[in-house]
Amino acid sequence: MPEPAAAPRRVLALGATSAIAEATLRLLAEQKASFYLVGRNPQKLAAVRDDLLTRGAGSATTFAADLDDTAAHPAILAQAVEALGGLDIALIAHGVLGDQPAAEKDYAAAEAVLVTNFLSAVSLVTWLANYFEAQKRGTIAVISSVAGDRGRKSNYVYGASKGGLNVFLDGVRNRIDRAGVQVLTIKPGFVATPMTAHLRQNALFAQPSVVARHILRAIDRRQDVLYTPPFWGAIMFAVRCIPRRIFKKMNM
Ligand SMILES: NC(=O)c1ccc[n+]([C@@H]2O[C@H](COP(=O)([O-])OP(=O)(O)OC[C@H]3O[C@@H](n4cnc5c(N)ncnc54)[C@H](OP(=O)(O)O)[C@@H]3O)[C@@H](O)[C@H]2O)c1
Repeated sequence: MPEPAAAPRRVLALGATSAIAEATLRLLAEQKASFYLVGRNPQKLAAVRDDLLTRGAGSATTFAADLDDTAAHPAILAQAVEALGGLDIALIAHGVLGDQPAAEKDYAAAEAVLVTNFLSAVSLVTWLANYFEAQKRGTIAVISSVAGDRGRKSNYVYGASKGGLNVFLDGVRNRIDRAGVQVLTIKPGFVATPMTAHLRQNALFAQPSVVARHILRAIDRRQDVLYTPPFWGAIMFAVRCIPRRIFKKMNM
């Protein structure tokens, strides 16, 4: 007997207008997934929705919100569950690179990065973890960064926001894995997106479509942590091995 076809997945995307998120959602749309798309720019959200519908999405609803407003999160997440009739995957993708030199001088600039990349994700994952734990299945996939693996002088505020996120996700995973819930920490290296458009591109830069394939495969394999492209796992292992007394003299 052939395996029964899996039901199309119901996907909540937070930061749905991110280039990496959009590429990942396209792959899910080809599998007829349904979407609840949250981002802060209504025009960009509408464009993502229309594109996903063209590619085969079962349905796609948009909701415009600044995700720094954590007080609004419970209502947004409950609306998403209601609109989709349940939830299988939550992808958290929003983030900012920030301005490291500004953040070295001005705490407010550092705080803005920590609020968007760390605290808003903590708020969303807290609600989602309880929701998925109660239903005893589901996937929380969060785009973090290799930058969280070690504090570098050139971007330690961004790195701290992602490093804090990594530790938080480790703890949540250890709590709810036994309920059958996947918590996937996604650690991309350099990806060619609007976030990095100001940087000189080199051979280390990956396309969002490549990273998206890795993300979907990691979700399907129920992985815990994904380095994407995978060679970043080896690079970051080497970076973590550099002794502190040498690392502090390096210009990284
Ligand atoms: N690109 C890289 O090299 C790289 C490497 C490692 C990790 N990452 C991570 O990957 C994730 C996606 O970034 P990306 O590369 O796809 O860049 P991107 O296309 O610039 O996406 C960033 C997204 O975050 C959204 N966003 C920022 N602050 C928000 C807020 N307060 N509320 C709601 N949405 C907000 C932006 O919305 P607007 O469109 O409205 O600005 C944008 O859609 C981020 O978490 C980033 O840190 C990226």
